[in-house]
Amino acid sequence: MIAASVLVTVPAAHAAETADAAAEADSQCPWVGSDAPVEQRIDQLLSRMRLDEKLDLVHGSAMPFQFVGPTYAGMISENPRLCIPQLGLSDGPAGVGNGHTGVTQLPSPMALAASWDAELASRYGATIAREARGKGADVVLGPTIDLLRDPRAGRSFETLGEDPHLTGELAAAQVGGIQGEGALAQSKHIAAYNQETLRNLPANDSIVDERTLQEVYLSPVRDVVDAGTASVMCGYNRLNGVHACNNTYLLSQVLKGQFGFDGFVTSDWFATQASHAAANAGMDLQMPGGCHYGPRLRHGINSGAVTTARLDDMVSRILRPMFRFGLFERDGNGSPDDAVTGPEHAAVAREVAEKGMTLLKNGDGMLPLGGETGSIAVIGEAAGERVIGSGGGSPHVIAPEIVTPFEGIAERAREAGAEVSFDDGSQAGEAAGAADVAVVVARQWSTESKDNKDIRLSEKDNEMIAKAAAANENTVVVLNTAGPVEMPWLDEVAGVVAAWYPGQEYGDALASVLYGDADPGGRLPATFPVSQADLPAASPDRFPGGAYDEGLAVGYRWYDREDIEPLFPFGHGLSYTTFEYSGLEVRGDGGPDTTVTARVTNTGSRAGSEVAQLYVTHPESAGEPPKRLEGFQRVELEPGESARVRFALDERSLAHWDADADRWVRGEGDYTLSVGGSSRDLPLTGDVAVAETAPVSEPTPAPPPGAPEGDDPAWTKIGNVARCPAESLYAGMIGAISLFGLPPGEQATRPPRSPADDG
Ligand code: NOJ
Repeated sequence: MIAASVLVTVPAAHAAETADAAAEADSQCPWVGSDAPVEQRIDQLLSRMRLDEKLDLVHGSAMPFQFVGPTYAGMISENPRLCIPQLGLSDGPAGVGNGHTGVTQLPSPMALAASWDAELASRYGATIAREARGKGADVVLGPTIDLLRDPRAGRSFETLGEDPHLTGELAAAQVGGIQGEGALAQSKHIAAYNQETLRNLPANDSIVDERTLQEVYLSPVRDVVDAGTASVMCGYNRLNGVHACNNTYLLSQVLKGQFGFDGFVTSDWFATQASHAAANAGMDLQMPGGCHYGPRLRHGINSGAVTTARLDDMVSRILRPMFRFGLFERDGNGSPDDAVTGPEHAAVAREVAEKGMTLLKNGDGMLPLGGETGSIAVIGEAAGERVIGSGGGSPHVIAPEIVTPFEGIAERAREAGAEVSFDDGSQAGEAAGAADVAVVVARQWSTESKDNKDIRLSEKDNEMIAKAAAANENTVVVLNTAGPVEMPWLDEVAGVVAAWYPGQEYGDALASVLYGDADPGGRLPATFPVSQADLPAASPDRFPGGAYDEGLAVGYRWYDREDIEPLFPFGHGLSYTTFEYSGLEVRGDGGPDTTVTARVTNTGSRAGSEVAQLYVTHPESAGEPPKRLEGFQRVELEPGESARVRFALDERSLAHWDADADRWVRGEGDYTLSVGGSSRDLPLTGDVAVAETAPVSEPTPAPPPGAPEGDDPAWTKIGNVARCPAESLYAGMIGAISLFGLPPGEQATRPPRSPADDG
């Protein structure tokens, strides 16, 4: 987060003047309100732009050291002469951030990912977009498409989990939801930005082989481009030695060439570390300030280091979505002072929290709670004042108020006629022993700007759980964590619910899951290891060292390949009912028309939800990990009801990246298709034979003429630092902060209270 330091004050003072200038300019701006094709309107406008006006459009207008709000994360100034409206960019991926209030605190993207529900992801995106527009912004800085390579990453809660397919599908749906509400999505961050340690400094260099990059880290990028994302943010990391924001291979050859992206690439905040090289490599917009892409880019144009054609391309890429989304014709969005949350948005937050809540263990079917439960002890500070609704950094969202676990459970228990007590954890054993059921809530804080050193709960929380479990065999642990954590007490407790960072409706969602008003809908979007020593990037040279030599074996693919038994596998999650899989049918020859169908039946006595998952095992010759997720479908079924789930394969479902051919190839051989309820529970298998090896994509285009292989030359670099000292200083500070972290922001306008305070 750069939150406090670089937020941009919304210009209000000159509104009237601006309106006059705009009215006068209207007649001279034939591209406004015109029916002409977008490309024609761009050309018309471009032909009227002066060099300074073009430069003004390719960078933000924030001044460093600006600490006041109300705020957006970034802003491009308007140009009244040419009727170009201002463009406000707003964080972020879990709701409107940047210190705004009156917004909805949605559950974290990780919680959304646990729902495995693309339709819900679309509504999640739409909710954020409506609120961002309601606050006056035009661009939503999300979805986050970085994968969870290692759960120690500070931004783990902000990811959509460890799998490229799940991430890509949900992010694409979210882009659709955001853009369907007329806001521009900015998918972030490309590519292989998976840690905070030393970010934006040369030491943060992700060394990734081409095949892994293409198959794993770039796969969700391709999906959001296919979904029409208007913009993409390049990250703080180096990729194979070259900073992501001046990386020709990444931005020009792959993103714009191979994937055909026609929108704009924005630098992460203070991630512009080159001027000429960044422009020539394919970065289009500098944020939040404008020295590298102001005076320094002017210098590049004047000296011939950057062509006018490239500058025109940068401008066109920014104007294109602005025209497509009707920004020139808009009367304006709302204003930062408007309250934009409401019951409809709170309902989305509640639905995501419920559908993402993942029941990991339910010993002797002790859940759901019923009439026989006369008393419940709710234990742990995280059930009250230390609740976490939202993680830290730019994805942080301030709730109007958070329904704490204690509040939610107390209210629901009252309806059921049960008594509820609270203990902050200091008397966990006594409190648990005195009740029929103990619900112990543990927490783990995570934030952008700092990686966590481990995936362990605090000793205090582990002891609290152990004491409660020793005193009461009906102890259920609720994990208010960013992602996977170790569970040394697992055998002692009856139940475990992963609640993630569940947003403002947390307590109510938890109570409905515990009481079975809602079936626990979540399935793990990330593997929970027995110990962090089992993590794919456990060794320090991998994390935070940056050697991605686990290669394709990310997440469950690692545990499969290395034959490591996880604590809970990817895709796992219990329901209060049971499901049976039958009738697998495979139609097609492995190409994009191939479909896989299967029947899922609710064999229990309650309504419930299941996520059917399709995994593909490639022939050994392909060199893939043992299996890859290639499809999923969430179904809600009444007792006894069946549904046929259907997975449509695409061009690449059975393909792999052939680095020699520099393209995707579907290799000859037998592929196994497995369907079931988790990556380690796949009762159905079928197969398909691919008759001959064939390429399924074009090779990556060559670098454009004049594209750099790395950074600016030394003398340009010296000029950058000398002319842009504040930006250079900030760039370094981003890295330095990663050693200390940022203070956590407030969780809610009305601070969550401990039930103990209420007497
Ligand atoms: C830095 C973060 O990495 C990025 O995700 C965010 O959108 C910007 N700051 C703006 O706050």
